[in-house]
Order: sequence, then structure tokens, then C-alpha cells
Amino acid sequence: MHIHPSILSADYANFERDLKSISSADAAHVDVMDNHFVPNLTFGLGLVQALKKVSDLPLDIHLMIENPERWAPEYAAAGAESVTFHLEASNDPIWLARELRKLGSRSAIAIKPNTSVEDVVELLPEIDMLLIMTVEPGFGGQALIQSTLSKISQARSEIRNSGLEIALQVDGGVTEDNIGELAKLGADVFVAGSAVFKNPDRNEQISELRALAKAHSS
Ligand code: DX5
Ligand code: ZN
Repeated sequence: MHIHPSILSADYANFERDLKSISSADAAHVDVMDNHFVPNLTFGLGLVQALKKVSDLPLDIHLMIENPERWAPEYAAAGAESVTFHLEASNDPIWLARELRKLGSRSAIAIKPNTSVEDVVELLPEIDMLLIMTVEPGFGGQALIQSTLSKISQARSEIRNSGLEIALQVDGGVTEDNIGELAKLGADVFVAGSAVFKNPDRNEQISELRALAKAHSS
């Protein structure tokens, strides 16, 4: 059970301090938005390179950008532990997933709430992690969309049937109230932005979320 706090909810004038405040996390989740694929603009490659210099936390890059073929490899080359691109944005997901692995990163594909799990099944051999978005990507602090829950159990059973070792990540509206249910459905990597950063003691919040996930894991 892995907890990846999203630095979308961090203090942008104090990334180094805020990364220290989540030192017990399994990775820091970095939401890259281009104001085209999603209606919001955040960070880019320069920030990721800077974070690498001040922190040893693995970086989990979530690219909400058009034309990921152009940029995703650069994040892998910058030392990201995993790079996730959106299926809806990619022209050549097989090529890109292979390229990311070649560059030493884990490759991952994300799907939006209205994209079905079937669309990604044939790509499972190319990826190390599948991200099921539980909100429409673009902003932190939204409520989880209940209709995405069935996709988590569906994705878990497809992964099980494939015999491959693929992590199942959920992102959006994850809180202490629903993380148990998400774990029970088969998720094992949990992104949490507001739910981690709202607590003045982030490491305590991370432990609590992890314990709740473990207690309900299937
Ligand atoms: C939304 C981002 C999320 C966001 C989650 O598009 O992909 O990673 O930071 O924030 P919370 O946990 O507050 O819903
Ligand atoms: Zn994200």
C-alpha cells in the first residue's frame, strides 16, 4: 500500500520544506498540467529537475498534457521513478511506454473517468502502473466520482488475469473516509493532495492513510 502525496496542494514558495514534511511517503506525486489537455497550468520539467536536487523522495510524474510523446521521455531522463501519461492524449502509447522503460523509469498510463478500462487492457504488458482517475483531472480538492469505483475492481481483475505485476493507482478525492473502500476494490497506490497537506503533521496523516488502506486490502 503506497501513499503518494500530490504537491499540487503544497506551498509553491516552499517545495523543499514541504517535501521534507512528507518524508515517510512512498513517492511525491507531481501534477504537470499544460492548460490544453486540462484547463489548468502548473509545473514543468524545470521544477522536477530542481526537486531532484533537494530531495531523495522518488518522483511520480502525472502528465496531464497534450502530445506526451514530446515531453514524457524528458521526465524519465530527469530521474523520475515513474512517468504517467494519459491514454486520451497519446498518439503512440506503445512506443512511449517502451521509451520510458528504456530511459530507466517505470511507465504508466492514466485514464479519465469517462474512458473505459477495456481501452487500456491490450497495453498492460507495456506498463508498470495503471492510473484510474477518480475525478476529472485539472484541480485538487474535488470530491471522488462514485461511478469510477467499478472501474477499479474491473482494472484489478484485468491485471490479475494478465498475470503481470502492475500497480493500480487512484487519484482524486482520496480521503481517510474512502481509502479503505478503494483498497478493498483493488487499488494499491493512492494519490492524496488535500487529504495529506491539510494536516499540519503530514507524516502522521500518511501513516493513518496507509494503515487504513492496509486494513482493507483485498
Ligand atoms: C487532479 C490531480 C490530482 C490532485 C489530487 O487533476 O491529478 O493529483 O492533486 O488532489 P486531491 O487529493 O485534493 O483530490
Ligand atoms: Zn495527479
